[in-house]
Amino acid sequence: MYAQLQQRGSPRPPVNVSTLQKMKAEGEKISSLTAYDASFAALVDEAEVDVVLVGDSLGMVIQGYDTTVPVTVEDIIYHSRAVSRGLARPLLMADMPFMSYSTREQALANAVRMMQEGGAQMVKLEGGAGQVEIVAYLASHDIPVCAHLGLKPQSVHKIGGFKVQGREGAAAEQMRADARALEAAGADLLLLECIPSDLGAQITADAHVPVIGIGAGPDVDGQILVIYDILELTPGRKPRFVQNFMSSTGSPMEALRAYVAAVKSGEYPADEHCFA
Ligand code: KIV
Repeated sequence: MYAQLQQRGSPRPPVNVSTLQKMKAEGEKISSLTAYDASFAALVDEAEVDVVLVGDSLGMVIQGYDTTVPVTVEDIIYHSRAVSRGLARPLLMADMPFMSYSTREQALANAVRMMQEGGAQMVKLEGGAGQVEIVAYLASHDIPVCAHLGLKPQSVHKIGGFKVQGREGAAAEQMRADARALEAAGADLLLLECIPSDLGAQITADAHVPVIGIGAGPDVDGQILVIYDILELTPGRKPRFVQNFMSSTGSPMEALRAYVAAVKSGEYPADEHCFA
């Protein structure tokens, strides 16, 4: 009971939206990883990762689909509940699956389930101008929201593949405007995927809320990766932004610690992980 209060003065108080704001203000990089079960969650907690995402990437790395499109709210709740049992300190964010937030009422009902049944402390949705109203509605009900911009994997069939976004001037301007509108609507966190580093830097400079990136360059407030990718558990070709932290460490725990250290020091991402 009152765990938040009891742990406030402890050396590892739980991460919340205020912690993330403070980290942005003080220039401390935010480290984030996905997790899908209690065992990996406990390792990630031990490695002092700040934010854990139950991503709909579970559709690809756990369920074996080619895309995230088949993932359901039930899937996210099931995995979030497991992850929440393994975590003490990190903030637990859960992905709203494809078509689970197409109206304000549907988004609210599903976000509430993800928080009450799954233990999520923040929900993430793939957004642009079309989702501003949804974000505002969730925020007006005090649901912490992360807005995911850039490459939006749930739109893969519409955009024709997993590719870098925002390279053309008009698309970059639109993304900057979308980021501002989503923040104004009440988003607490922005996540940028697969965009040129310059654009990542511009959106981060514009934003008052923290911005984390995956393939968005070094000049964002933090980094997120899929845990299976950094532990070399996913076979085949990896996206450019992935760094294998297992090869230099040899144990999952050490690999996770090395990832956190590399994010905090700014060593990751290096040029080879970034897009121009
Ligand atoms: O689903 C997921 O894992 C994600 C990350 C790639 C950011 O959205």
